[in-house]
Amino acid sequence: MSTKGFTLWLTGLSGAGKTTLASLLAKELGARGVHVEVLDGDEVRTNLSKGLGFSKEDRDTNIRRIGYVCRLLSRNGISTISAAISPYRAVRDEVGRAIERDGADFIEVFVKCPIEVLAERDVKGLYKKAMAGKIVGFTGVSDPYEEPLSPAIVIQTDRENVDTSVCIITRELEQRDLIPKVGTKSLRARRSGFTQRWSVRRRNSGPAKTLRAGRTITILKKLFFSRYSRSR
Ligand code: ADX
Repeated sequence: MSTKGFTLWLTGLSGAGKTTLASLLAKELGARGVHVEVLDGDEVRTNLSKGLGFSKEDRDTNIRRIGYVCRLLSRNGISTISAAISPYRAVRDEVGRAIERDGADFIEVFVKCPIEVLAERDVKGLYKKAMAGKIVGFTGVSDPYEEPLSPAIVIQTDRENVDTSVCIITRELEQRDLIPKVGTKSLRARRSGFTQRWSVRRRNSGPAKTLRAGRTITILKKLFFSRYSRSR
C-alpha cells in the first residue's frame, strides 16, 4: 500500500449529500486505520476562505485553497476528502493534476442528484430563496454547475441510501489498494445495520414518521436480543 495519502474529491450541487457522505466516509476510513481529514466547503468558508463570495473568481480561489491543503496533506500520507460544490471543471482538473504530480491519487466523485429533488429537500432553505430571486448566482439555479466529464465514481443520492454510497466508494479505494480491506462481517457490525441509515434520514428529512420507525426498530432489536440470550 502506498505511503502517500489520496484525495477524494466530492463535487456536486448544494444539498446533494457531500457533507453527509464525507463524514461517514471519514468515520469508515478512520476505523480502518486510515489518517483522514475532511475539508468541507461550508466550514472552510468560515476560516481558510472567510470573506470570499460566490463569484466565479472567488469560487475558484476557494477551490484552489482547498486543493492546496489536500495536496500538502495527501503527499504526506494524510488522506483528504473535499466536500465543496466546486462547480467549475477547469479548476477541479487543475487541482487534480497538481495532487497527482506530487504522487498522490486524486479520485473525483460526482455526487449527483436532480435539481428538482434538491429543491424539494431544500434542507437549508436556500433553493426556495434562490428560485424567488432572493439569492443571486445560486449554483444550479442561476449560476453554472459543470458536471465532471469522466468522474472515477458517480453517486446518485436520490436512488441509493448512504450506506450503499459509502460502500461504492470504499470498494473503489480497496480496488486501487489505497485502503485496507475488511471482512464483510466486521463491516456489517460496524455499520450496525439500521442505526446509521435511520439517523441520517432523520437528519436529512426529519419527518416524525422516520423517528417513530427508528424507535420501533430499537424496540424490536431489544426484544430480539433479550429472547436470543434467554434461549441460549
Ligand atoms: S464553491 O462553489 O466555492 O465550491 P462551497 O462548497 O464552498 O461553494 O459552498 C457552498 C455552500 O455555500 C452551499 O452549500 C450553501 O450552503 C452556501 N451558499 C451560499 N450562497 C451560495 C451560492 N450563491 N451558490 C451556492 N452555494 C451557496
